[in-house]
Amino acid sequence: MTDNHSSSTGLRTAIVYTSVHHGNTRRIAEVMASEMKADLFTADDAAAVDLSGYDLVGLGSGIYFGRHHRSLRQIVGAWNSPPKRTFLFSTAGLPFLHFLQHASLRGRLRKQTCEIVGDFCCRLHAH
Ligand SMILES: Cc1cc2nc3c(=O)[nH]c(=O)nc-3n(C[C@H](O)[C@H](O)[C@H](O)COP(=O)(O)O)c2cc1C
Repeated sequence: MTDNHSSSTGLRTAIVYTSVHHGNTRRIAEVMASEMKADLFTADDAAAVDLSGYDLVGLGSGIYFGRHHRSLRQIVGAWNSPPKRTFLFSTAGLPFLHFLQHASLRGRLRKQTCEIVGDFCCRLHAH
């Protein structure tokens, strides 16, 4: 976990990720957090963090059987005071399907009335 508190843009940003298979999403999350000067949490750690104080929260994992890891869906489902602005990312074997494969987590965020300001998926070859 990093503890940068405020990005160069002035937005307080957190990135929450799960990366269980090849570490692909972890590598993307680490680069994003470094570039955005965001606080970086695993989904396990983030369960104990109040993310409502952040201006922007990014959520990402590998895609497993057509959707994000369940730990992210659980975190979003459990939010009592959700962050206003979010973005989604993933790594996947089939990145061109990301609109479909992000639908489950996107639906959870919309239910929480979070604005989704970005959506990103890529394939890594570290298998
Ligand atoms: C059990 C399993 C299921 C997967 N299911 C999908 C899938 O439905 N769609 C897809 O595009 N990629 C799928 N993949 C590929 C992963 O999304 C991809 O390797 C991803 O980068 C893994 O992320 P991680 O290393 O951060 O866990 C699957 C991989 C595994 C091991």
